Amino acid sequence: MKIGIIGSGYVGLVTGVCFAHLGNDVICVDNDLQKVAMLRKGKVPIYEPGLSEMIRQNRLEKRLSFSTSIAEAVDFADVIFISVNTPPKENGEADLSSVENVAREIARNLKEYRLIVEKSTVPVQTGEWIYKTIRENHKKGAQFDVASNPEFLREGSAIHDFLQPDRIVIGVSSTKAETILKKLYAPLKAPIVVTDIKSAELIKHASNSFLATKIAFINAVGRVCDAAGADVEQVAKGLGLDPRIGPSFLKAGVGFGGFCFPKDLSAFYRMSEKLGVKFGLLKEVLDINEDQKQYFVQKIENALWNLKGKTLGVLGLAFKPDTDDMRFAPSITIIESLQREGVHIQAYDPQAMAKARPVLKKVKFVRDPYQAAAGADALVVLTEWCEFKNLDFERVKKSMRHPVLFDGRNMFDPKELKKMGFQYHGIGRGA
Ligand code: UGA
Repeated sequence: MKIGIIGSGYVGLVTGVCFAHLGNDVICVDNDLQKVAMLRKGKVPIYEPGLSEMIRQNRLEKRLSFSTSIAEAVDFADVIFISVNTPPKENGEADLSSVENVAREIARNLKEYRLIVEKSTVPVQTGEWIYKTIRENHKKGAQFDVASNPEFLREGSAIHDFLQPDRIVIGVSSTKAETILKKLYAPLKAPIVVTDIKSAELIKHASNSFLATKIAFINAVGRVCDAAGADVEQVAKGLGLDPRIGPSFLKAGVGFGGFCFPKDLSAFYRMSEKLGVKFGLLKEVLDINEDQKQYFVQKIENALWNLKGKTLGVLGLAFKPDTDDMRFAPSITIIESLQREGVHIQAYDPQAMAKARPVLKKVKFVRDPYQAAAGADALVVLTEWCEFKNLDFERVKKSMRHPVLFDGRNMFDPKELKKMGFQYHGIGRGA
């Protein structure tokens, strides 16, 4: 099929490349001229394992191109995906102005039937607005359908998630749209859930909110574990073996971040409010997540006594491993809180330092984990990058002023580190 992707950010780019990989002809559009120029030169603006190789391959085989023109995509493609940004407004609502602008631009260029699919995460009823906007702005006679096809891609494993999905959700209002989308996704051989458009929109917000609720729940349980002297890792194991609960997303830590969970929870909460539905649980999840970062800072302060003038080595800045994404990363709030107390930070992240530099002022960025530890009063783990697992802790210990470790992701074995002479502080592992 011929596919147009409007918005070549994280989701748009991965979606476009994967559709090309499946044999479709894809044009990815973005209004950022610099980004498009970069992509045309084969440079990828984000870090996602496997993505640049796939872009190179599909460009070579002439199935993938980049453009700044929506008109070009509308002329070319049978199916047009809208995957532009829906950032949070000050009050937590999703800002849908880019979606509206794109819908208007598509309408102005519509000459014959096109299927327009919302891929961006949007609040329920956005499909109706897209339909209305296109109907009001398109030339007479041109036929179109609107559909919803939410994505469930995790940063760091987005290509795998696209090509091996648990399910594909398509929200449609016509058999024609359903047939086209089923055909497009047929090669993936995954279960396809066909719903109405509003239900599909809700599946996305409900999924992300439910996952975030699991994380907030285990973090709150972790605080009880700290207070009572229990171990949240053991509690999570005992909980997760119940198939009704499941083991995933029960990893206690410094809280969730990224551009999806915090923004989607806020947007879902605001949308429920607008619809007259009380959904305080979502607000509580957001509050627990904010508190969790301060809880960790307090833990550091309790163990180090005075923070003023102390030096902390930070390992990991990205909101999770295998990405360079710093958006809503817990590291930002935690580091800023520590700096307000007069702490000097020397930090290392395998991928995110370029994106962290403009965000984190007065941080000394170093070249490897050992430099982060050198001369530090304590080491603080904020992202569980695999490469930290194999650190030579004897070497780390020798270079530190005091061998104290705050493991904000519970990635190390407390027993082993204690045996080596470290003072170990995890999350929910008993104070
Ligand atoms: C999330 C969802 O997992 C995807 O299904 C969804 O498509 C995506 O949002 C989106 O809406 O686009 P992502 O934000 O890439 O994906 O990251 P996750 O792997 O879900 O992690 C989110 C945050 O939760 C990270 O900060 C991570 O460290 C934290 N987390 C995750 C925990 O603290 N504990 C856990 O057990 C799991």
